[in-house]
Amino acid sequence: MTASQRSRTPESEGMSDPAHVAIIMDGNGRWAKARGLPRVAGHRAGVQALRAAVRAAPDLGIEWLTVYAFSSENWSRPKSEVTDLMGLLKLFIRRDLAELHQNGVRVRVIGDRDGLSSDIRALLEEAEALTCQNRSLNLVIAFNYGGRDEIARAARKIAQAVDAGVIAPEEVTQDAFAEYLDTAGMPDPDLVIRTSGELRLSNFLPWQAAYSEFVFLPCYWPDFSRNELVEAIRTYAGRDRRYGGVPARDVAL
Ligand code: IPE
Ligand code: IPE
Ligand code: MG
Repeated sequence: MTASQRSRTPESEGMSDPAHVAIIMDGNGRWAKARGLPRVAGHRAGVQALRAAVRAAPDLGIEWLTVYAFSSENWSRPKSEVTDLMGLLKLFIRRDLAELHQNGVRVRVIGDRDGLSSDIRALLEEAEALTCQNRSLNLVIAFNYGGRDEIARAARKIAQAVDAGVIAPEEVTQDAFAEYLDTAGMPDPDLVIRTSGELRLSNFLPWQAAYSEFVFLPCYWPDFSRNELVEAIRTYAGRDRRYGGVPARDVAL
């Protein structure tokens, strides 16, 4: 049984569910500042909000949940904050992996692994290997991820494949190219949510979100709960996805 076939809760009843929700978890620093706390306290609270979102997702018909946890541009932050964020990722995997596995969550990580330390790389590989057969939710963690970096790495790989005679230049179509991205085999996000009131993509899934619906929420990420997720899905359900075409109801006009 897939998550979308599971019985729905009253809040999600009758809505056209987004199978893939991607979230830009933004505003941890401002959440902490508003409370007179250090930024790391905001990141810790952000991990709690992530746990809640992962628990809520399957019941809301979400099959894929992609979260932006560390961008390829976040290295420009103070060294101590970068260290804190690396530490929190390690802690999250160490503390939560057993529970994620028990709940049937399949973990996948996108982003440039080569830029990460070997202990983090090993943890990410362990999480992916342990959970690879799970089916109730796909949790995709974008870590050291940047969309332009991903596209450049894919272009490099495809150039090498052309060089090696594995693929001919005229076979480089959109679909073939997508297979060289970190997200190979994944559906595109239906809904992209960004918290904290910022109205930008910040290099998150630029290829994959070409036809996604966007919901921008004013709340800081640590304040994001199941209610905000339900509300975003409700907003999504009211959207008219056209993909450049004309809605079927208007074709005869
Ligand atoms: C998002 O919160 C978490 C990461 C980028 C890792 P921020 O740390 O960007 O919080 P703000 O945007 O400064 O409030
Ligand atoms: C995007 O947020 C990255 C993550 C949420 C991991 P940022 O806080 O880094 O984005 P900008 O700097 O406001 O664009
Ligand atoms: Mg931010």
